[in-house]
Amino acid sequence: MAEKEISQAVISRLPRYFRYLGELKDEGVERISSQDLSVLMHVTASQIRQDFNNFGGFGQQGYGYNVEYLYTEIGKILGLDHTHNLIIIGAGNLGQALANYMNFERRGFVFEGIFDQNPALYGKQIRNLVVQPMENLREFVTAHNIDIAVLCIPKTAAVAVADDLVKCGIKAFWNFAHVDLNVPESVEVENVHLSDSLIKLSYNLNANHHEA
Ligand code: NAI
Repeated sequence: MAEKEISQAVISRLPRYFRYLGELKDEGVERISSQDLSVLMHVTASQIRQDFNNFGGFGQQGYGYNVEYLYTEIGKILGLDHTHNLIIIGAGNLGQALANYMNFERRGFVFEGIFDQNPALYGKQIRNLVVQPMENLREFVTAHNIDIAVLCIPKTAAVAVADDLVKCGIKAFWNFAHVDLNVPESVEVENVHLSDSLIKLSYNLNANHHEA
């Protein structure tokens, strides 16, 4: 779509637009003005217009945006117009919690398998998945057309495991291990650190609720 480079700040706001528009669509809302969307999302209407202008504006503002169209177009930009096949590496607390959460599939992220190196976990069923040994990885990634690996293993193991996964054909990592992966530039990495978010909350709590 857009030829120019879109800033990461804009990209990082798209999932939220997508989520709100999905809810509006589910409620049967057909059109919404940038003004109404701004009230709903607590961002300024000019921010919304500026963000959307990166992608050609998405239609005439005088009549508001067509919700279904906007939802579909933002979905396409986010690569959500097709499904992604994922595997989880590490079937501990976090890996199992993610495997048990069903809503990712609604957005087209399908967990196809879960792997661990602990033989005590082999064969354990987590929702519709069965924990498999790491030895099965290579064949599985190819057979199930896996593009994303979710790393839920300790940081001491993550770098080496990621290397192996790249060799197996993994193109993207959703990395929960607290370490920077050392993968080729062509491989996408999204690091998730829940504690960063919690620490930000702590900062705001401190800054806004304490007398100076
Ligand atoms: P856990 O100890 O319950 O599970 C880790 C699993 O990884 C175990 O089943 C273990 O057998 C497996 N494992 C270890 N080395 C492996 C390897 N080389 N190959 C395959 N499997 C391997 O730990 P938990 O609580 O599930 O946390 C997992 C990781 O995620 C930890 O490193 C933790 O620090 C991190 N974490 C990160 C969060 C975040 O927000 N980024 C939040 C919670 C945990």
